[in-house]
Formats: sequence, structure tokens, C-alpha cells
Amino acid sequence: MIEGKIIRVSGPVVEARGMKGAKMYDVVRVGDENLIGEIIRLNQDMATIQVYEETTGLKPGEKVVSTGNPLSAELGPGLITSIFDGIQRPLVQIKESVGDFITRGVDVPALDRKKKWDFKPLVKKGDKVTSGDVIGEVRETSLVTHRIMIPPGIEGKIKDIVDEGKYVVEDIIAKVETKEGQKEIKLMHRWPVRKGRPYRKKLDPTAPLITGQRVVDTFFPIAKGGTAAIPGGFGTGKTVMLHQLAKWSDADIIVYIGCGERGNEMTDVLREFPELKDPKSGEPLMNRTILIANTSNMPVAARDASVYTGITLAEYYRDMGYDVALMADSTSRWAEAMREISGRLEEMPGEEGYPAYLASRLAEFYERAGRVITLGSGEREGSVSVVGAVSPPGGDFSEPVAQNTFRIVKVFWALDSDLADRRHFPAINWLRSYSLYVDSVREHWEQIGKGWADLRTKAMTLLQKEAELQEIVKLVGPDALPQRERAILEGARMIREDFLQQSAFHEVDTYCPEKKQYEMLRIILDFVDKMMRAIEKGIHIDDVLKMKSRELIARMKIVENEKFEKEFKKIEKEINKEFETLMGG
Ligand SMILES: Nc1ncnc2c1ncn2[C@@H]1O[C@H](COP(=O)(O)OP(=O)(O)O)[C@@H](O)[C@H]1O
Ligand SMILES: [Mg+2]
Repeated sequence: MIEGKIIRVSGPVVEARGMKGAKMYDVVRVGDENLIGEIIRLNQDMATIQVYEETTGLKPGEKVVSTGNPLSAELGPGLITSIFDGIQRPLVQIKESVGDFITRGVDVPALDRKKKWDFKPLVKKGDKVTSGDVIGEVRETSLVTHRIMIPPGIEGKIKDIVDEGKYVVEDIIAKVETKEGQKEIKLMHRWPVRKGRPYRKKLDPTAPLITGQRVVDTFFPIAKGGTAAIPGGFGTGKTVMLHQLAKWSDADIIVYIGCGERGNEMTDVLREFPELKDPKSGEPLMNRTILIANTSNMPVAARDASVYTGITLAEYYRDMGYDVALMADSTSRWAEAMREISGRLEEMPGEEGYPAYLASRLAEFYERAGRVITLGSGEREGSVSVVGAVSPPGGDFSEPVAQNTFRIVKVFWALDSDLADRRHFPAINWLRSYSLYVDSVREHWEQIGKGWADLRTKAMTLLQKEAELQEIVKLVGPDALPQRERAILEGARMIREDFLQQSAFHEVDTYCPEKKQYEMLRIILDFVDKMMRAIEKGIHIDDVLKMKSRELIARMKIVENEKFEKEFKKIEKEINKEFETLMGG
């Protein structure tokens, strides 16, 4: 056992002597209260440790003991529906056992040791198995079948496997005869969080992650296995958007990391999520969700751990063959934690005081996203999609966290405080945002609705023209514009208000099915075409603006999702009729 002594405490950073033989990134227990920390620098017998718990009261002379293990996540049944802190301690269980959310040095394992799970074996004695092979199943929740896999690095022959029955996570359920001797397999295993879990092959993303948010799905789609950033100043709608993605994305598993943001936002999640139902199955959404809460009032160093813990859990479910979506709110708070720790280590500061390794840490994190063929026999496919909120001070996108993130991610949803001030939500700026997945998801969308890509281009062109015309409008007012250009402004207004604006808090509008998105856009653009033709035929724009069907279009978004097809047909009929009258009269 390696045991040293504290010689210095500086906020979340502790220095200890007598740590000869310890390794970088070993987890250590610090002080008389056994606080959890991780070695982040070693110099002979001197270890520098970042501590994941409050260090107040910690004094030089107290002991530091190395566990000899890297910071690891527990992987096994029981993760889904859990709420963890940054180092995977189960918050609800801690609250039940000690009455408060966090008590220093408490040791409550991530996975319940007593809970019995129904395990169903899928292999038999003598079967050859390799890393990633599924040897059995546990029904984890009503929405998730937990596949018990041979952990990475093990290959051999099944020597023993238990019968179907009830087991706890630490029960040995199988023994594998390998070249290096016999290996025991339990329902759970551990994985070092800073190391990406292995897979067979990375694939290009092709399917969209459908979120039910029109500006995302239709304008700036993210693919399953893709990466996206949502940067924006305070109050522009980052958290609301991430909540929307967590609620409605068509992923199998959601991992939501609340990292360094206000505690009350996490309370919102905790209060709201258990009541939400999956739109497809009607089952509680928590039955596919894992929450990691490391709010601003919790220790700064644990933000770092929460990000790695989260992505490790996501990869684990990917390995089972699931589509996982991970949201992190906010990666800027994580970067600030890096800056604070780096400052305490007196490292050479980079841009704006952030450490020089900021860019590589962000890149490594987002690189753990992807669509893959997993380990194991058979062509099992899984994906991890990652969406990170970026909250630059003052909403200034030129700062280092935003800039370094933009270089990595493939989708960029630029929040705009002007739009938020005008209550245009989601306040995603359509001129500054982009998605590099439009081509990858086109085939999927063309099956939903023919000509999807053309509609999308048309709509975006209208918005671009609007932006150009606005310069003129600023000088001369809209009435001075030619009829045709006033019609373009009206078309763009419809796209903005009747399509892009979407209330997260409206019972129906909060989620818009893909077919409905397509139909809404098609009907709006069809109206625009008819309007242009009418203008060419000499109809005055003011007469078009008086049409009643404009209101019907505005109301399409709140037409019930189960009934929209029939209702939209009626709306189209009304539009046609009104235009006929207009042109005839
Ligand atoms: N899609 C939306 N629909 C309706 N209101 C929204 C939407 N997005 C944001 N808002 C409004 O903006 C406020 C701030 O959003 P929030 O996500 O908390 O901002 P941020 O996390 O960027 O600071 C919300 O409380 C809500 O009133
Ligand atoms: Mg927020």
C-alpha cells in the first residue's frame, strides 16, 4: 500500500509526499475523511492530486492512500434511471442513507449490490466467445434490455454459465477458459473513464437523430453518432434545447450531464423527467435515461470526472448495440474547471488562462462520439451522439472554448441573443448555424417526403434574401419595396414564425414528428409559390396579406400530431380555394 502525507492544500488541489510507486491518474483517498481524488502530476515521491470533494478543513500531515486503480465507472444493470454525481455516486441512495445529497468521503457504490436481476443466459458451456459477445440478457427497464457482454480483452471458451434466474451484480454468472487462465464474468465490470471503450470499426453516420425540433431536424440535422455544439450567451435557450433533445430524441438511451450549471436547472430535470412519457411507447422516459449531476455548488474538479463518466456510460450502451445520445450542459463550465486546476498547478497558461491542452481535451471528448461496429461476433452497430452546450461569457463566440469546439463538431446551432430578446425560440440563428450531416441524412428524409432537400434549400434561400432585403428596409421601409420583394419578405416571415419558431412548453408543439415537419414546410413553400404567381399576375400584395389561410398556416404547428394529415389536407384545400377566388376576382 502506498501511503503519503499531505504537505499543501490549495482549493481542490492537494500535494502529498511519500507517494513513490503511485501511478498517474491513480485514484487516492485523501485525508482523515477519505476524500476521493486523482493523481494528476507525479514528481518522484511527490504527487499532485485533484480532489473531487470539498477540501475545506483538510490539513497538511493528514494521510493520502493510493488505491492503485484509475478512476473507473461501474458498468452493469441498474445504470438506467439513476442519478449520479461526477464520480458516479448514486445521489438518491446517498440522500436516503445520509439525509443529504453529498457527504464527504461517503462510499456508496454506483450499482446496487443487493438488487436481484433476472438473468437469461444466451450461450452454453463449450461455446467460444470473444470480447463484446453477448452471453445473456437482463431486462433493465421497460425500455432497455441490458446485454451482458464479455468485457474487452477476454477471449476463450465458456467453462461454466449459470441457469436462468435471479442474480446480483457481483454474482459470478460465467467462467471463461482463456489462454491466460480462467476469467470470471459478473453482471458488472469496471472501466477506466479516461479511456475510450474499444470497438471494431468506425462507420460514417447516415441516419438522422430525430429530435422533433424543426430547426434541428429540417434545417441543421445531427446524425446518429454525430457531434453538435450549441453555443449561446446566458438565457438564449441552451438548457431548454438540451432538455428537449433529452426528452424527444429517437435515441435508445439518453445520458444527460449537468456540468457546473445552476442546481435549480438540475432540479427541473429531476422534477420533470420522471413524469415524461416516451411518445412512441408511452413508457416513462426515465426508463431510458441516466442523469449525471455536477452542479455549480458541487466541487469544481468533479466536473472533469462527470464528463468522462458520462461518455463512458454512453459507450457501454453503444457496445450493446444501442443508439445513445449524450448531452453536456455546459462544456464551458468543464473548461473553467480545467483552467482553475491548471492555475493551481502553476502550469504555463494558454489563451485567456485556459491550459494549453484545452483543445486536445475537447477533441478527445468529442472523438468518443461515433457510429461503430462493436466488438463481438455479428455485425452489431451502435452509436454515441454528443451535444455540448457552450456558454461563452457575454455570448462572445471568439473565446477559446467556443473556438476550439467549433473546430471539432460537425453541427453548430448558433444561439442568438437578439432572437431570444424578440422571443423567437429556439433562438437558433439560421444564417450562422450549419450542419455537415445534411448530405448524410438526405436519403432518410427523401423517404419521409419527396423533394425534402429542395424544400430545405428553398426555405433557406428565402431567409437569405430576407436578410439582404432587410438592409434596404432599414433605409426606406417595407412599403417602398417592389411587390415581388414584399412577397419574399412575407414568405420568409412564414418560415420564421410558422415553421422555425417552436415552443418547448406547448403541449403539442414541443415535439413535431418528421412527416409533419416536412408537410408544414411543403405547404408553406407552396403558399409562397402561389403568392409569387399571383403577384406576377398583377394581384396586390396587400390582398394576399388579407388572406385567411395565412392564419391556418400559422396554426399548423399546434394541430395535434395524431391528426395532422387530415387537417393539413383541409388547410391546403382552403389555400387553393382562396387563391382561386383571389385570381378569379
Ligand atoms: N424552445 C423554447 N420555447 C420556449 N421558450 C424557450 C425556448 N428556449 C428558451 N426559452 C426561454 O428562454 C429561457 C432561457 O432558456 P435557458 O435554456 O435557460 O437559457 P440558457 O441555458 O442558455 O441560459 C427559458 O426559461 C424560456 O423562457
Ligand atoms: Mg442553461
